[in-house]
This record gives sequence, structure tokens and C-alpha cells, in this order.
Amino acid sequence: MKKLLVLSVLVAAGLLLLSAVAGCGSTSTTSSAATTADKTPAGNKVLSLDEMSDIAPGLGDIMPTLSRRNTILYYAVQNGNWDLAAYQIKEMGEGIDVAGTTRPARKDALDNFVKSGLDPLNEVVKAKDMSKFTAAWNAEVTDCNACHVSQGFKYIEWSLPKTMPEDLTLTPVP
Ligand code: HEC
Repeated sequence: MKKLLVLSVLVAAGLLLLSAVAGCGSTSTTSSAATTADKTPAGNKVLSLDEMSDIAPGLGDIMPTLSRRNTILYYAVQNGNWDLAAYQIKEMGEGIDVAGTTRPARKDALDNFVKSGLDPLNEVVKAKDMSKFTAAWNAEVTDCNACHVSQGFKYIEWSLPKTMPEDLTLTPVP
């Protein structure tokens, strides 16, 4: 136990020394990168929970990514890259998890969407079952827009872009 204490004191002292050295480095360079104070909002002010929640990504930030992933997923399936489609669904799920954390008021609606729209689509994509894809896809898109309506954004209606994304290979990658 004592040994552990001595060790932690040593580690702490080492860290202090390191930060002092780093501090010197940053004051002596004129053109160099931002200091911690520059990078911290309002100097070194400790942010309140409200402020942290304001800057955490909300649905307005996460939805455009979800939208793009949905588009890629569709065209990936049409072109036979099922793995890319599955990956997009997984990432959509992660984005939705983040949204549920940063915007707890929408968590139930997000969870419902995962259960009713995204999970069934995921099953079809994992099974690479083209015969069931269109129905699952249409149901998912309907759920996207149903949530917009239920959340008071009925003027946000998602529809599939007519052009395919061009930055990823949509056909199977050998
Ligand atoms: C929890 C319900 C919910 C679900 C499910 C949902 N959305 Fe949204 N979406 C919202 C809300 C709320 C907004 C408005 C965002 C804001 O400003 O807070 C939004 C906004 C959007 C926007 C507009 C973003 C912008 O600012 O330009 C797009 C695009 C979008 N959603 C696409 C989708 C797609 C695609 C799906 C399904 C894969 C989906 N959404 C599922 C609630 C949802």
C-alpha cells in the first residue's frame, strides 16, 4: 500500500514536471499553436452542464450525417455492397445513441425508431436478402418521417437523393 502511495506521488511529480516543460515550450514559441487557454471556451472558465449540453451535438448536427448514411446504405445495397450498407446502419445506431444522450427528451422517439425501423432493416441487410429489402427500406424511411412529424418538424420530409454518393465505392470491394 505504502509502495503504491510513493509511486503515485512520483508519477504526479513527473506529470507536473512534464507540464512545466510543455508550458515553457509554448511560451517561447511565437508562431506556435494555441495554448490551453485559447482552446478552452471563455478562457479557463469551467463550463456549466447547460453550456456543455449547448455545445454537445444535437439532432440538428446528427441528422445530416444520418441522412447521408441512409443514402449510402440504399445505394450500397442496390450495387451489392452489403457490408458497406451494414456498416452504415451500425454507424447510424451509434449516432442515434449519441443523440439519445445529448438530447434525452428525444430518447424514447429515437429508441422507437431503432426498434421499428432500423433493427428490422439491419436484419434484412445482414441476411443480404434483396427480396425483403424494399419493404424494410420503405418502412424505415416512413419511420424517419413519422418521427419528424411527432417531434414537431413535419416540414422536414426525407426522401432519397436521386444521385448516388460518389465518394465511396458502392459495389463490393474485392
Ligand atoms: C427522434 C425522431 C427522429 C428520427 C427517428 C429521425 N429524425 Fe431526422 N430529425 C429529427 C428532428 C427533431 C430534427 C430537427 C433537428 C433539430 O434542429 O433539432 C430532424 C432533422 C432531420 C434532417 C434535417 C437536418 C438539417 O438540419 O438539415 C434530416 C435530413 C433528417 N432529420 C433525416 C432523418 C433520416 C434520414 C432519418 C431516418 C434514418 C431521421 N431523420 C430519423 C428527429 C428524428
